[in-house]
Amino acid sequence: MAESGVAAQPERGGTVSTKRGIVVLDFGGQYTQLIARRIRELQVFSAILPCTASTEEVRAQEPVGIVLSGGPSSVYDQDAPRCDRKALDLGVPVLGICYGMQWLARTLGGKVERAERREYGPACLRIGRGSKLFTGLPATFKVWESHGDHVVELPAGFHITGQTDNAVAAIENAEGRFFGVEFHPEVKHTECGAEILRNFVFDICGAKANWNRAGFVAETVEAIRRQTEKARAICALSGGVDSTVAAVLVNRAMGDRLTNIFVDTGLLRRNEFADTLEMLRDRLRLNVIGVDASEQFLWKLRGVTDPEEKRRIIGNEFIAVFAAEERKLVALAKGEPVKFLVQGTLYPDVIESVSIKGPSAVIKSHHNVGGLPPDMPFALIEPLRDLFKDEVRQIGRELGLPEEILVKQPFPGPGLAVRLLGEVTPERLATVRAADAIVTEEIRRAGFYEKTWQSFAVLLPIHSVGVMGDGRTYGNVIAVRVVESLDAMTADWTRLPMAVLERISSRIVNEVPGVNRVVYDITSKPPSTIEWE
Ligand code: XMP
Repeated sequence: MAESGVAAQPERGGTVSTKRGIVVLDFGGQYTQLIARRIRELQVFSAILPCTASTEEVRAQEPVGIVLSGGPSSVYDQDAPRCDRKALDLGVPVLGICYGMQWLARTLGGKVERAERREYGPACLRIGRGSKLFTGLPATFKVWESHGDHVVELPAGFHITGQTDNAVAAIENAEGRFFGVEFHPEVKHTECGAEILRNFVFDICGAKANWNRAGFVAETVEAIRRQTEKARAICALSGGVDSTVAAVLVNRAMGDRLTNIFVDTGLLRRNEFADTLEMLRDRLRLNVIGVDASEQFLWKLRGVTDPEEKRRIIGNEFIAVFAAEERKLVALAKGEPVKFLVQGTLYPDVIESVSIKGPSAVIKSHHNVGGLPPDMPFALIEPLRDLFKDEVRQIGRELGLPEEILVKQPFPGPGLAVRLLGEVTPERLATVRAADAIVTEEIRRAGFYEKTWQSFAVLLPIHSVGVMGDGRTYGNVIAVRVVESLDAMTADWTRLPMAVLERISSRIVNEVPGVNRVVYDITSKPPSTIEWE
């Protein structure tokens, strides 16, 4: 479904389906999500399950093929991750990648050893004749390797279909059901990687290209319609991409039986509450209750300087406001009970919470203010829980959402409270808000808004000496933070042109009262974080 150079044609008249796709069993590899994304780019659904999933769980997905992911372990490690051996007996083709190939080879009776020379980075693959996986590919091409072990003895019935200078790089069995590659076809640095996955998915597994946007929208809307007949739902909107796309999808199914709640915490950016509310109501035609709770938030934040304490207070206050609105709604909605809560949960959140039990323990701290208490008596509607972020943007496009929402930079739930270090006061909010508006304007003007992950101003809790006109000043310091990132787990500071930095700095000191110094943050994450608090 994601845009890709590989043009797979969806089946005419076929329905989109999360069944009869490819299951990726996760051995904890750093590229596991990428494998699923590449397969989805071929318009075939792909689900990631931890390698510890039972055969019944795998079978429940009705897969037409299985991919075994890479992983950081050695198959001989004591606690090396394994799958249930029965997953190999489901009768569908299996492709092992890197560790996945080693586990497959060893499990079927082959031998794996620690390599004399580890292979990391590019290598040249020479392919043998008669390989189903490499049909139509050149005799040699560049591949991306990342492994320490390699297969030294093949299981019975297997033959070598590809080699690099150092190792057996690809194997297949004669029946054409088991395949292994030592390199990573899912990584862009592997030439022909997309073709290899395409051969596996279509020619070997016989998958149908039926996972597409329009189908997804139609099927999801229909499913929600059936699920929510004669009931009401509520949704907490933040104005960001995920919750907006989720609300628009559910709105298509439920119309005004969905009530959205958008809270002004008083910690939003300049004009953000009014502009977002207007867009949600007038342009997207959503049924939205805008709640101005800014005074209440600021009151609770009085005197608080500790960042985690700010987060805790804001989180609790948000829940209190949401719960109060929900009670009003429940009291009004006599005939149609409020049964559902809509959330914009995405696939990476789902996999992360699943994978914690499996080997790929990438545990991100989820600090969404929208995290609502589990004791609310609602069933969840999470229409995006199968999607990656870029797929959500594309569904948003399919639904006709304005581009400005789809390309919007992420904004933390606690808002400007964590972008002014120290106490949150109306004056300090006004200062950081004015500086932030200038950063955003100049970043947009210079064409960096969409190229960067986030760009914003931070008000520091110190004063510094300056000179303006003929007088000494003792004023505020603003730090400017502009970063590039793919997923916020790591980030690098953006090398902005000097002229852009100069304009930002001179506008802030000239236009924002009380600021006499601007600094640019030149640290990456790690060791810093993106936000200053
Ligand atoms: P850090 O500062 O940890 O931020 O590098 C990573 C990403 O998460 C966002 N962020 C938050 N989002 N509530 C949120 O909803 C929060 O408390 C919060 N703290 C950080 C941050 O903007 C960045 O995109």
